[in-house]
Amino acid sequence: MHIPDIIIAIDGYSSTGKSTFAKLIASEFGFLYLDSGALYRGVTLYAMEHGIIKDDNSIDLGKLKPALTDLDIRFRSSDKGSLTYIGDRCVEKEIRTLAVSDKVSPIAAVPEVREYVDRKLREFGKKKRIVMDGRDIGTTVFPEAELKIFMTASPEVRAERRLKELLAKGENVSYEDVLHNLAERDRIDSSRETSPLAKADDALILDNSDMTLDDQIKWVKAVLSDRFGNHAEKPMKFGKS
Ligand code: CDP
Repeated sequence: MHIPDIIIAIDGYSSTGKSTFAKLIASEFGFLYLDSGALYRGVTLYAMEHGIIKDDNSIDLGKLKPALTDLDIRFRSSDKGSLTYIGDRCVEKEIRTLAVSDKVSPIAAVPEVREYVDRKLREFGKKKRIVMDGRDIGTTVFPEAELKIFMTASPEVRAERRLKELLAKGENVSYEDVLHNLAERDRIDSSRETSPLAKADDALILDNSDMTLDDQIKWVKAVLSDRFGNHAEKPMKFGKS
């Protein structure tokens, strides 16, 4: 199936498998995958390492705002896929830890941080043929995206998946810690003033609580074929929703 040069925006709650799904779409249809959360995580790691965010999550805005002018966060491709760098330092592993997850939502609520990340994301968007995941891609970053998907899954399923990922990376964390982190991030992300996590009116909901990756790819293929293919198929329905 040939898909035209479009932007696919994937938003949704924490740990709903957005990045896994987006990467699959990218490799299946030859799109460039961009992980907007990695940029927020990069800013957060920088803030933690420079004493800009404290243990109680208070943020020294007087230090953070000027630091954004020179902060060089970028993606570099490798045989392991796209990796996040701050300057010449690869920070891919550090930005995925629960310690960073615990601080990222307060940092991502700062309007100047959002402006910084949005500027970078819109640069990428000039290329088209991209699939980007985050919280506000379909509402704020690319409201003109031709396909918008809003992902959700039950909190327990999400926590189980993220716990497995973190344990596999050698992090010593509990199910309760992960579940609490997801709930807190969803709360802060949904209630912040600037570009809160929200479903765009024209986004399709994908609840993958009971779906395999294969089910999700079949679902998106049916959607793409329905919208852009010559031979329309009706999107299939999976799971409980
Ligand atoms: O992969 P996971 O769902 O855990 O999160 P992520 O996509 O890596 O995003 C980490 C955090 O960055 C989120 O909890 C949000 O606070 C923030 N974020 C955001 O505010 N807007 C985006 N477009 C992407 C991420």
